[in-house]
Amino acid sequence: LAIGVFDSGLGGLTVLDRLQAVLPDQAFVYLGDNKNAPYGPRSPSEILDLTIAASDALFRQGCNLVILACNTASAVALRLMQEVWVPADRRVLGVLVPMIEDVVGQSWEQTSRPLVDRKVLFFGTPATVASGAFTRETRLRARGVQIAEVACPGLVDALEAGDSAMADALVEQFSTQGRAQLPGADVAVLGCTHYPLKQAGFAAAFPEAAILHQGDIVARSLRSYLTRHTRFAGQGPTRYLTTGDRVEVTAAAARFLGRDLDFKHL
Ligand code: DGL
Repeated sequence: LAIGVFDSGLGGLTVLDRLQAVLPDQAFVYLGDNKNAPYGPRSPSEILDLTIAASDALFRQGCNLVILACNTASAVALRLMQEVWVPADRRVLGVLVPMIEDVVGQSWEQTSRPLVDRKVLFFGTPATVASGAFTRETRLRARGVQIAEVACPGLVDALEAGDSAMADALVEQFSTQGRAQLPGADVAVLGCTHYPLKQAGFAAAFPEAAILHQGDIVARSLRSYLTRHTRFAGQGPTRYLTTGDRVEVTAAAARFLGRDLDFKHL
């Protein structure tokens, strides 16, 4: 069986890249909702509707497990989808839970609330930050952790458009804002799957901090999940789908990742 990997646009490719590195034989279907990207400025109900439609499309492509490689969808839509929409024999998982497990140093099922003496800066889209999900869920699972969230409007647009100079300027601006909100951070979370493209900029802005890239964390987490749930795994090639214009998206993906991927229309 193929595993579905979804993002509003191209950002999820930074996660897929790491998934393919740890699970080289696994079949994936990538879906970018480029027609409706970015999700970051949208309302929660729009994000919910779009994420359900995309997950449904991936189920219809033969995936029984879908990874929302999008923090905005994971923070805003996932919990409600799991409660009221996902069919019993299918699974939809997000990128926020593995990230929080990594930050607090224990798995989701453990409820001991350890003392975590870390100062965490979380960078995300406006909708992700407005949801407050990262701070709320992290505080439920750890004591003592200091967190500040920084919304980064426009950064996804610049990265999707391949405007590297604009993206660099925004990373600098939001990093300065983050330093003012929480001086001396020792962890910077790239809480949007587009941001690893500017990992070097964040690393330069926070030389003392660990920069957390969700691709690595989600890849470890999925590998372990599949050893416990082998029925979701299957070998085969990866397919790339978009709701947008396939020629434009193929060209944008080449700029984005620096390699050629052949996108087909959904
Ligand atoms: N890459 C997505 C995320 O992780 C969303 C970007 C967007 O559509 O605004 O949040």
